[in-house]
Amino acid sequence: MSDTEIFDRLKQDHDLHRELIARIGETHGESDERKELFEKLTLELKAHASAEEQALYSTMMRKPRTTDETRHSVAEHHEIEELLNDLAATDMSSGAWLTKFRTLEHDYLHHIDEEENDHFPDFAKHLTRDDETHMRAVFDRRKRAEKADAKVTPVEMEDAKE
Ligand SMILES: [Fe+2]
Ligand SMILES: [Fe+2]
Repeated sequence: MSDTEIFDRLKQDHDLHRELIARIGETHGESDERKELFEKLTLELKAHASAEEQALYSTMMRKPRTTDETRHSVAEHHEIEELLNDLAATDMSSGAWLTKFRTLEHDYLHHIDEEENDHFPDFAKHLTRDDETHMRAVFDRRKRAEKADAKVTPVEMEDAKE
């Protein structure tokens, strides 16, 4: 594995996400630490997901054999974003915040485990080394731009979804 490949780069981010999530899980109430880490995680996850879609999923979406997996993952990105926005709209000192955070933790860890163990190995079968190198460069460029634009946006999730 070389550090020019897209999948190594994405896994590097995922490891940072795992670490941030574990650290937030150890914080208490409306502490400065929880506030700072949650903001950092929100901007990081939003920028990562957008750049991942632009650098990798856009290509995988238009290859018929990887369309379904891609669609599944993009739908999960949307759910993660809704959970982050709902958390931002929830009183951080309440028990509800931690309950919602545990849902985010469960769903996000599932998402990145599935990407790493199932999707990425399938995607790699349809890509050349040059594709992967190019995608990594696109990812790095887009991640910087998306991060600069990313925001914490409090939006309560509707309980009764139709
Ligand atoms: Fe993802
Ligand atoms: Fe990812």
